[in-house]
Amino acid sequence: MLSTRFTELITVDHPVASAGMGGGATSGHLVGEVSEAGGLGIVGASFLPPEEVAQQVSRARELTSKPIGINLLLHATEDRVDEILAFEPEVFSTAWARDDQGLAGIFAKAHECGSRVMHMVTRADDAERAVAAGADVIVAQGNEGGGHIGEIGTVVIVRQVVKAVADVPVLAAGGFTDGAGLAAALALGADGVLLGTRFLATEEAPVEPAYKNAIVASDGSDTVMSTLGDSFSGRDWPGAWGRLLRTRFVQEWSGREPELRRRRERAWAQLEELEQSNADDGLMWMGQSAGLIESIKPAAEVVREIVADAERILRSRLPTFL
Ligand SMILES: Cc1cc2nc3c(=O)[nH]c(=O)nc-3n(C[C@H](O)[C@H](O)[C@H](O)COP(=O)(O)O)c2cc1C
Repeated sequence: MLSTRFTELITVDHPVASAGMGGGATSGHLVGEVSEAGGLGIVGASFLPPEEVAQQVSRARELTSKPIGINLLLHATEDRVDEILAFEPEVFSTAWARDDQGLAGIFAKAHECGSRVMHMVTRADDAERAVAAGADVIVAQGNEGGGHIGEIGTVVIVRQVVKAVADVPVLAAGGFTDGAGLAAALALGADGVLLGTRFLATEEAPVEPAYKNAIVASDGSDTVMSTLGDSFSGRDWPGAWGRLLRTRFVQEWSGREPELRRRRERAWAQLEELEQSNADDGLMWMGQSAGLIESIKPAAEVVREIVADAERILRSRLPTFL
């Protein structure tokens, strides 16, 4: 068993969390399996209707009595904080706040509901701000991660955040898939890892088979950092790039964001058609970690393998260097 400040504070067996990926990239099944296996499963609530969030939470609660989390992208969903806290998640997971948002008030509400607050950052000064506002855990997310990302690579941002908020547990995110990654994160001073792309390529993830297969097929070098997804959706995402697969749709619109903003309707129709005719050509958010993912597995197996491999590396390989 790997015991860290994160496992102790959140009362989970393993220092592994599945990312609260919004827009329908998590399911209650996925979250319940991760938590029941001893990790922390997190529902991605952003851009989902309230009844779907409720379904995911109740499915996860059917599968496990262990802690779960629910995630909100604060810049887009601050009006949903009360709705989410009413589910009394053990962990209220947040990310991507605007500078003008009052984190202290939001985090205090979560604490009043008995939730721990876990906030994701891509810069050390944002970690300091979140801790000053009362965050209990910080996720330091590096640029190789999937979805929306910042500018700094994982090794650097994790060290920067660990140094900046020494008294608070830190999870490392961006690029992690296996036990070697977890062992490395612990060596960097983190208290565990949070994984997105790896959990998309699981049996329980509610995304299309073509998406999962594209992750398995990717060598990581075919992901790109772009703002195309936000030009397309029309969302004003503060401070973020997005990392996604370089598909036909992405190639066609890259460098033409102003036109994309003007022709959104046409682009939506094109995307819908592509997704029906050849899903491989559509829009698939994933990190460079796709280059380390070789098969689609049950989520519980992912959790168990990461922890077992990390333990083996810490016990057998690392001591040989001393
Ligand atoms: C499809 C997708 C959707 C995501 N949605 C969210 C989200 O709604 N909220 C959030 O905090 N992070 C979100 N993330 C980012 C993850 O929290 C995490 O930082 C990232 O996946 C880590 O990198 P990895 O993919 O290499 O594991 C998303 C990531 C992906 C791939």
